[in-house]
Amino acid sequence: MKWTSAFLTAGLLVMGTAACNNQEKTASETPAAGISKQAWGQADGQTVDLYSLTNSKGTIVKITNYGGIVTSFITKDKNDAASSIVVGFDSIAQYLQSPPYFGAIIGRYGNRIGGGKFSIGDQTYSLATNDGANHLHGGIKGFDKVIWTADPVSDTVASLSLHYLSKDGEEGYPGNLDVTVKYTLTDEDELRIEYDATTDKPSPVNLTNHSYFNLTGDVQATILDHQLQIDANGYTPVDAGLIPTGEIKAVAGTPFDFTTANSIGSRIDSVEGGYDHNWVLNSKGSSLQKVATLSDSVSGRYLEVFTTEPGLQFYSGNFLDGKFINHTGSAVKLRSALCLETQHFPDSPNKKEFPSTILEPGQKYHSVTVYKVGVKK
Ligand code: GLA
Repeated sequence: MKWTSAFLTAGLLVMGTAACNNQEKTASETPAAGISKQAWGQADGQTVDLYSLTNSKGTIVKITNYGGIVTSFITKDKNDAASSIVVGFDSIAQYLQSPPYFGAIIGRYGNRIGGGKFSIGDQTYSLATNDGANHLHGGIKGFDKVIWTADPVSDTVASLSLHYLSKDGEEGYPGNLDVTVKYTLTDEDELRIEYDATTDKPSPVNLTNHSYFNLTGDVQATILDHQLQIDANGYTPVDAGLIPTGEIKAVAGTPFDFTTANSIGSRIDSVEGGYDHNWVLNSKGSSLQKVATLSDSVSGRYLEVFTTEPGLQFYSGNFLDGKFINHTGSAVKLRSALCLETQHFPDSPNKKEFPSTILEPGQKYHSVTVYKVGVKK
């Protein structure tokens, strides 16, 4: 459905009424449920917008069609104080200074492709290299830096559907890739992300979202006291350039064992540089399953991650250096926030032993990830 102001008004009215009926007492304090749009300046000579998705509980997710970036995810903590659990900015200008993928859609290939090269059949492809000799997160101008066409989707909950056509040869990738990413905020405080794509030539595809979480809502507090549980018995060890060696190693007896909840800080110093690895999920990407839980006792918040993907990159914000100032006015420093990027394994196009990431013409790429926030009072 195309965006019209009539839809916007109708959507707000319908959803607002439902919210009032359910929550009469708090209706005056809670913003109307639904979706709204505001002009948000320019990028690449084009106007970009900021969309606010609000559910009946008053949780708000803001998304811009520049890079499909989630700029804030505002939820209440155990004291009913609202703050954003993701790092972000209030203006497009800061996003144009290339922060390290804050909140963005990542593609065509999330994570690294070793040497920026891969082969399909007897054809070798060279990709843009933007991380030493390697290709990272789609290259120099990945999906995080392009303007997406935005369409709200009319339903009982607020959704925003983003579309982008990645042209044949973009950043070195073969084939025209038609991509749709749909964000939905449910009344259960789930941010559901559905990724769909088709291609006209075989191409690697590995889409993810690069939100940086700090469940306290305050990036001055590090994430070292957050507890993390990942349902994975293995991980993919990496070389010095963070390219997997190809091996799948058991986490048991290592600092990578998060099969039971552990604080992030308890063993991080024994991992050189901190965590920036791919966990091999026990779910194997067979269906949408809960694969990780992050929790913070200060705010009482917890975040559950569900995905259809076989891997999860847990990145402990190792390269954050204080250069960027969050919307709260605080610098985003080392260990200020962490990422839980659902994905296929890094460098899969060069690792025949890993699940394939090659999308063929006629096939449909479909991947779902849900970030669900809860609070323990
Ligand atoms: C990912 C990578 C990291 C780093 C960040 C962005 O999580 O795995 O190595 O590149 O993105 O800084």
